[in-house]
Amino acid sequence: MTYDVPQRPRRNRKSASVRGLVRETHLTPGHLIFPLFVMDGESRRDPIASMPGIDRVTEDHALREVEEALSLGVTSFVLFPAVEDTLKDDRATYGLSKDNFYLRIAKAIKSRFPEAWLMSDVAMDPYSSDGHDGVVQSGQIVNDLTLPILADMAVVQAEAGFDSIGPSDMMDGRVGVIREALDVAGHVDTGILSYTAKYASAFYGPFRDALESTPKHGDKKTYQMDPANRREALREADLDMAEGADMLMVKPALCYLDVIMALKEYSDRPIAAYNVSGEYAMLKAAAEKGWIDHDNAMSEMLLSIHRAGADVILTYFAKEFAQLHKTWQG
Ligand code: PBG
Repeated sequence: MTYDVPQRPRRNRKSASVRGLVRETHLTPGHLIFPLFVMDGESRRDPIASMPGIDRVTEDHALREVEEALSLGVTSFVLFPAVEDTLKDDRATYGLSKDNFYLRIAKAIKSRFPEAWLMSDVAMDPYSSDGHDGVVQSGQIVNDLTLPILADMAVVQAEAGFDSIGPSDMMDGRVGVIREALDVAGHVDTGILSYTAKYASAFYGPFRDALESTPKHGDKKTYQMDPANRREALREADLDMAEGADMLMVKPALCYLDVIMALKEYSDRPIAAYNVSGEYAMLKAAAEKGWIDHDNAMSEMLLSIHRAGADVILTYFAKEFAQLHKTWQG
């Protein structure tokens, strides 16, 4: 017996083939950016306890990581430096030194794999003895003393061959100052992927373990955004667009899908989202305990970020997703 049910959406879910036919969102490895934690030295990989599967790597291993990712269809990368404590100071001097290992590794990657798209991180925290993204004076993060440091850092990175600069510091006015410095130095083709709406999030914990960059005092709430705010992200987007950002990023991703969607509707720039270290760690931990199906949960997370409006996703899952992508049906 049947009821009079005039609409039966289940018809479009009857088989894998019809589901494939009507699927609205497709995520491919080409949408992903794979973050690499790099360090000085040779032939070393140090595991990061809170990020199973992700290591800090020396140049030779970084080249191997890039080669492997490229073979899987992941063609974009962002590099973060794990700097020895002894090289850190209150002005992030090592980040501006032209012969630092971070720039050397970027050059090595671009010369071996010119087809790879490479993004930098611009912020003081990996090089700062305070662990903050700006200059600290009397316990305050001083915006305008930080701007020239960020601009100088961006220029040495552009010289090293990065395709895009990634300011992750959340100082006011930094995109404009960086754009101008790049143009004056002749780097008109170097892009800026701005961390537009970067929230003061608890989900960065494992990343700070990886770089040993936890702030020595205080927190980042005077520069990173309040997780309670969405409309403020539009204001940041206005500024970044006016100052010359080529892409806008929301970070973290999973708790901020509404912000991703809002920026996608608001802006004509490509939108990126950062599926951050804590989001990665949560899934890895639950999967290790056998409490969740790793591959399906990973695919669902990444697909949801894309569905919400992120054209581009920075994710530690990039290689695993690419491997699975060949067979994943959904
Ligand atoms: C800092 C920076 C952070 C991340 C990227 N760049 C951490 C922070 O703001 O403390 C976090 C990325 C992640 O958690 O995966 N400039």
